[in-house]
Amino acid sequence: MNTAHPPGNTHTPPGNPLQHDATDSHYLGQFIPLHYHHNMLLDDNRMSGFKAAIEHAVFPGAKVLELGGGTGVLSCLAATKAEKVWCVEYNPELVAESRRLLALNPHGHKVEVIHADAFEFLPPEPVDVVICEMIHVAMLREKQVEVIENFKQRYRKKFPDATLPLLIPTAVIMAAQPLQQDFNYHGFHAPIIQFQRPQVMQSRSIELAEPVVYSTLDLTEDSALDIHWQGSFNITMEGTVNAIRFITKNILAIDPSHGSTIDWLNDYLVLPLHQPVEVRTGDTLQLAFAYQAGGAIRTLENAMRVSKNP
Ligand SMILES: C[S@@+](CC[C@H](N)C(=O)[O-])C[C@H]1O[C@@H](n2cnc3c(N)ncnc32)[C@H](O)[C@@H]1O
Repeated sequence: MNTAHPPGNTHTPPGNPLQHDATDSHYLGQFIPLHYHHNMLLDDNRMSGFKAAIEHAVFPGAKVLELGGGTGVLSCLAATKAEKVWCVEYNPELVAESRRLLALNPHGHKVEVIHADAFEFLPPEPVDVVICEMIHVAMLREKQVEVIENFKQRYRKKFPDATLPLLIPTAVIMAAQPLQQDFNYHGFHAPIIQFQRPQVMQSRSIELAEPVVYSTLDLTEDSALDIHWQGSFNITMEGTVNAIRFITKNILAIDPSHGSTIDWLNDYLVLPLHQPVEVRTGDTLQLAFAYQAGGAIRTLENAMRVSKNP
């Protein structure tokens, strides 16, 4: 989803990451109130990417499953061509709202909204496409990776002869970039977390190095929830590295006939460093961190360690 949703907390996910704990669902942004769904519907960047990916992947007569349906918008787009869509939503308020909204739209009657936990529901028959948008920048807070891993395991057990459905999104590429960030607000120094719209000029951010990819998750393969990285950046400008920008690109669909992908770039996440580092052009900056997909943003902020090799 867009990053404009309620802040997370420091709840720790259960021991076995794939052993879902229902009480955990109230934490880490799983219950997104209705008014934030309006922000998601308004987010053209997100909507146009999903619309194009669904048009590309869903063929006439297809069977589709959506995990985390919200207002039902993506299921409704899929229903344009699909014969049947199972739309799973856990939040009762959104279950009622999506049923109301789907009834207002052509093809909405092909969508069956199911009030269930995406960690438990499986369709009665194999499906061709699975749509799941439980995505937060850096794969934090929301449970995308966990839900998809859990789904694949249960689906293979229930339908051992079926091939895995096409997944939207199919992969995620994540990168980090050192910044000198202006944290001065009318004389008040406040180095705090922030989000930035991608492809918009950020007058308070100076990019001190090019972004470096730290993780590529192919969701069709087994993906670990542990994300850890130790890498380096070539500093291209003198300054003080006091923040790291996290960039997340979702590969919603791959179009092999054109050799292209349909992507969605999340809002950037900018996290302040507890210990800023002065750098000069030509320096090598080392960055290390580790966090769990679906974990609280704070866990990444606290895990970041930087050092410099002149
Ligand atoms: C980011 S919103 C996306 C909603 C919708 N698919 C869209 O694109 O506008 C994620 C949705 O997943 C739902 N959700 C989160 N955890 C869930 C779970 N375990 N089972 C079913 N739905 C869940 C949330 O209530 C929310 O409506």
